[in-house]
Amino acid sequence: MTPEEFRKYGHQIIDWIADYRTNLASRPVMAQTMPGEVRSKIAVNPPIDAEPFQDVLKDLDDVVLPGLSLWQHPMFFGYFPSNSSLASVLGDFLSTGLGVLGLAWQSSPALTEVEEVATDWLRQMVGLSNAWQGVIQDTASTSTLVALLSARERTSNYGLVRGGMQAEAQPLVVYVSAHSHSSVDKAALLAGFGRHNVRVVSHDADFGMCPKALDEAIRTDIAEGRTPCAVVLTTGTTTTTAIDPLQKNIAVAQQHGLWVHVDSAMAGSAMILPECRWMWDGIEGADSIVVNPHKWLGAAFDCSVYYVKDVQHLVRVMSTNPSYLQTTADGQVKNYRDWGLPLGRRFRALKLWMLIREQGVAGLQKRLRRDIANGQWLAKQVSATASWKVLAPVQLQTVCVRHEPEGLAGEELDRHTLNWVNSLNQSGRTYLTPATLEGRWMVRVSVGAENTERHHVEDLWRAMQEAAVL
Ligand SMILES: Cc1ncc(COP(=O)(O)O)c(C=O)c1O
Repeated sequence: MTPEEFRKYGHQIIDWIADYRTNLASRPVMAQTMPGEVRSKIAVNPPIDAEPFQDVLKDLDDVVLPGLSLWQHPMFFGYFPSNSSLASVLGDFLSTGLGVLGLAWQSSPALTEVEEVATDWLRQMVGLSNAWQGVIQDTASTSTLVALLSARERTSNYGLVRGGMQAEAQPLVVYVSAHSHSSVDKAALLAGFGRHNVRVVSHDADFGMCPKALDEAIRTDIAEGRTPCAVVLTTGTTTTTAIDPLQKNIAVAQQHGLWVHVDSAMAGSAMILPECRWMWDGIEGADSIVVNPHKWLGAAFDCSVYYVKDVQHLVRVMSTNPSYLQTTADGQVKNYRDWGLPLGRRFRALKLWMLIREQGVAGLQKRLRRDIANGQWLAKQVSATASWKVLAPVQLQTVCVRHEPEGLAGEELDRHTLNWVNSLNQSGRTYLTPATLEGRWMVRVSVGAENTERHHVEDLWRAMQEAAVL
């Protein structure tokens, strides 16, 4: 494709995206597609001869779009908000269009320095002290893996340069809660801790990790010949946005020398609101934090910011320094390849930088406050309606609900819950995520898509009531 052809089709694609965003609300939220249906519309073999690009664009409408569930739809209340603000979409475009790679500072100096600035702006916005430095990873899953690798190496005094985990005299233990995200479990297993050394600490009535239980679990492991290594605390758990109390759990962890990683993938965005910062009381005592601007804040996926205080340790764990990557600037600059797993990195910072500049901190705060108010409004309606229950404290914008008609319990109630939520999702009217809480199915309503206004939440509440009484 020549630059002139690119100009022509690029304009068409920008128009296509603008139309798609404008007309989104008239489409079904959840894809009305059967498994294999999209694939069946595409040739099995690759084209031998070049196709007109116009034909490819046509397939966006005919094949791709009908096969998508629409996360940017104002009636999307599934999983968590993954807002892709248009300013950040342009940043992502630019990143790809520039086609540069950050292997070392010298390989694209602006790529590194804009990332330094954007992650530092976000640090200031969420109220962290300047003891923290950030780096953009692809996802929270990777950030948490990096945290647990760093924890492992601190506890083992850099066992990786000797026999690694296999040479440790005692097994190393990671502490999590039953409400930690599945990526925490995955990171612990991939970092080599082993299933037997992932300890699930019990939680309080509000689903936050219990410091006393953490202390007891650590003491038991020590008494039985194991080495406590790290605890992962969550601000805003996936199921209910529960808050693990940081101050008390971190005090316990520090007493025993554990690495503290705080998973604020979803709720970290809310720390731009001073009234939400109580959720982070004690955060300065942690060793690492992950915040995903690619969730509620509005940076197009993928953009996960990992904050650490001990950069030297991180670099010592992650560093590789082959001759072909060495430059005369080393020593004066950051080489982000030593701050995470991959060598090459995209210019992800552009989309975060553009989002913050285009919205301003005040604009982002206003939107998040709107979403929290909408979540509270919905919780109030549900609580005030017979046979409906709010099942967990509504800390932010996620409301966990169940319709409990008289006489229904146990598996029958589960069937009722799954029936009404699945039929509502299949109707295309909205999208909600069912999940289990304390062994029973319920429905999570995650408010916060960029274009969701109060009237959409009102529509949702009407639709839920209609679906549940059918
Ligand atoms: C609390 C929490 N942690 C981690 C994750 C995983 O995020 P990512 O997809 O960026 O790995 C999620 C996303 O659902 C989450 O809610």
